[in-house]
Amino acid sequence: MRHTFSITAGVAAICGLLAVILYIESATTPGEQSVRSHGCLLCHPELFDSPLPGLAEQHTPGTPLRPLLTQVIQSSHPFVSAEAADNIAEYAHPRQQLALAHTRRGDAARSLYLAKCAACHGSRGEGQDDRYPPLRGSEWLTAEPSRLPEILHQGLQGPITVRGKEWNATMLPPGVTPGEETESLIRYLRKEFAAKQHKTP
Ligand code: HEC
Ligand code: HEC
Repeated sequence: MRHTFSITAGVAAICGLLAVILYIESATTPGEQSVRSHGCLLCHPELFDSPLPGLAEQHTPGTPLRPLLTQVIQSSHPFVSAEAADNIAEYAHPRQQLALAHTRRGDAARSLYLAKCAACHGSRGEGQDDRYPPLRGSEWLTAEPSRLPEILHQGLQGPITVRGKEWNATMLPPGVTPGEETESLIRYLRKEFAAKQHKTP
């Protein structure tokens, strides 16, 4: 009985070790292999999908990210060799670059919202008593075909209905520039304030 148990445990341990080796060896680039063999993703699941903490502050937009990434990997983890750090940076920097760009665009849209909309619609989109309608949960954010670009460029004049309540006021053009600024503000409004039940999988 004891023997059977220790044989089973031994076989399981060997299988586990083989699985780890296979996992590391099946990586397709030296960078991916280093990420796997050092277990980076155990502590940094964000290595690919969101910016590493602190990276946004250290990186100047428009400058190459890869050398900076090599440097911060090495300075935070001296046990990682220069070569491995460089390989990891080569492998990880395109996704980090994208994640940084997304974060910066989201930050810019939030600042724009706070500067141009929040005075009336509230910093959390809650609106203001009977003066300004809410954006949180508003069907105007999700209705298709969308009239949002038009509203952002030309303003809006009532009567309108928002979440079952009638409004009859005037919103002057809030001064949003057509193009990238409009698109990123709309993405922000939908992400922050749109009713969640129609979330696409
Ligand atoms: C056992 C957990 C652990 C593992 C494994 C690990 N890290 Fe870290 N890492 C940390 C901690 C904790 C910090 C924060 C340290 C500090 O504040 O200086 C950090 C900091 C960093 C930073 C700096 C972030 C910044 O912007 O300042 C980078 C880059 C980084 N790690 C990359 C890696 C890479 C690449 C690997 C794989 C080679 C790795 N880490 C493996 C725990 C870990
Ligand atoms: C000076 C106050 C004011 C500012 C600033 C303002 N709005 Fe409005 N907004 C209104 C009013 C009043 C209405 C209702 C107009 C009506 O009755 O037709 C409205 C309606 C809307 C609607 C449709 C109704 C709803 O609640 O969903 C949207 C969407 C909207 N605003 C978005 C914005 C965005 C985005 C900004 C910033 C770029 C902004 N507004 C800036 C006052 C304002």
